[in-house]
Amino acid sequence: MKKLNVGLIGAGFMGKAHVVGYSNFPKFFWPVEAVPVLKTVFDVNPEIGKEAVARFGFEKSTADWRDIINDSDIDVISICTPNDTHAEMAIAALKAGKHVLCEKPMSNSFEDAQAMAEAAEEAAKKGIIAMCAYQYRRVPAIALAKKFIDEGAIGKILDVRAQYLQSWSADPNSPLSWRFQKSIAGAGTLGDIATHVIDMSQYLAGDITEVVSTVSTYVNERPIQEGGVDLLGTVKLSGDVKKAPVDVDDQTSFMVNFASGAKGSIEATRNAWGRHNFITLEIHGTKGSIAFNYERLNELDVCFADDADDRRGFKTIHTGPAHFYGEVTWNIPGMNIGYGELKTIEIHDFIKAVVEGKQPSTDFAQSFKVEKVVNAVAKSNETKSWQPVL
Ligand SMILES: NC(=O)c1ccc[n+]([C@@H]2O[C@H](COP(=O)([O-])OP(=O)(O)OC[C@H]3O[C@@H](n4cnc5c(N)ncnc54)[C@H](O)[C@@H]3O)[C@@H](O)[C@H]2O)c1
Repeated sequence: MKKLNVGLIGAGFMGKAHVVGYSNFPKFFWPVEAVPVLKTVFDVNPEIGKEAVARFGFEKSTADWRDIINDSDIDVISICTPNDTHAEMAIAALKAGKHVLCEKPMSNSFEDAQAMAEAAEEAAKKGIIAMCAYQYRRVPAIALAKKFIDEGAIGKILDVRAQYLQSWSADPNSPLSWRFQKSIAGAGTLGDIATHVIDMSQYLAGDITEVVSTVSTYVNERPIQEGGVDLLGTVKLSGDVKKAPVDVDDQTSFMVNFASGAKGSIEATRNAWGRHNFITLEIHGTKGSIAFNYERLNELDVCFADDADDRRGFKTIHTGPAHFYGEVTWNIPGMNIGYGELKTIEIHDFIKAVVEGKQPSTDFAQSFKVEKVVNAVAKSNETKSWQPVL
């Protein structure tokens, strides 16, 4: 059985999610294209690196991420660090001939994201795979929505409504982690979560060509959190802790035009009390509609115009063995999958791409299309005008 040696850079929240994927995909997708071996981990915090050895089963931790890039034994690298580090690490890894799965967004700057896309294009000529971790398009219900759209089951798409609403930063005492610092994150809600629904919208309805936006910050300063893993609002600091300015957005809303002629709207906020991972998509076509909510990720609501008048309406399809990845995850209807299985599906798609030598869905070229929309949204907010996606 072929083995692929894995290096992990950044062992926080997403580092854990990638390890869940590497560890579990052979259990689901057996027989697999290759078995991953967790070789080396690096985290800028050496304690987290050492802990990752004991906790995740890596053979060793190292004191410099370049050790992983330069190790001829390493085949694939997961980059799970804050956004400002992605470009340097990903480009170095690709140049060293490593296959890369990089967390989203691609970078904290448009220019760096472009450099990453160019490096991936160059590396692809040598069969090197570069993938960005937009996992939500791999939710079985979203894959089913794509199938219905491709089959023409809802006709021509007229409009798309997409939202990503979270609550974890609604409390003003939720700490000022790296996610609230433009120099590290690049953008707030726009880069962090709107990017996911931009990717899903483009996956289902094609390229976005124009946008007009508003981008707002509601909480202008937060208690300082020194370094470390983003606590994502789960630990509240007391109100008298020293505060520092927030220089990224809390909320963004934008109208979009698609190349197909379809229209749409996208909204994202991390300050929506009561909304947790509320990723919703509603798509209306000339022959039907599709609705999805990640908080009920094993369901897809569909309505078909051809149904008789007295029974036309939304019906809920529960995804399971009859649907994408259902035969390998839990093959009894209603068992359901969650975030861990979703990251496992993503890691399997990455490893399959590496072994087969075919760029996967959400390669760096596709991910760069998301960055182009983000760039146009930011420009539109500055100019208060429609902006082309260039
Ligand atoms: N795909 C998704 O759904 C999803 C969800 C959350 C986060 N993300 C992305 O994953 C990335 C990491 O986010 P997270 O939530 O895991 O953050 P986190 O704060 O939980 O973890 C980041 C880890 O990286 C380490 N780190 C910081 N700088 C480093 C450096 N220069 N070199 C090595 N390690 C470094 C930190 O010590 C920490 O352990 C971000 O790009 C984020 O946008 C994606």
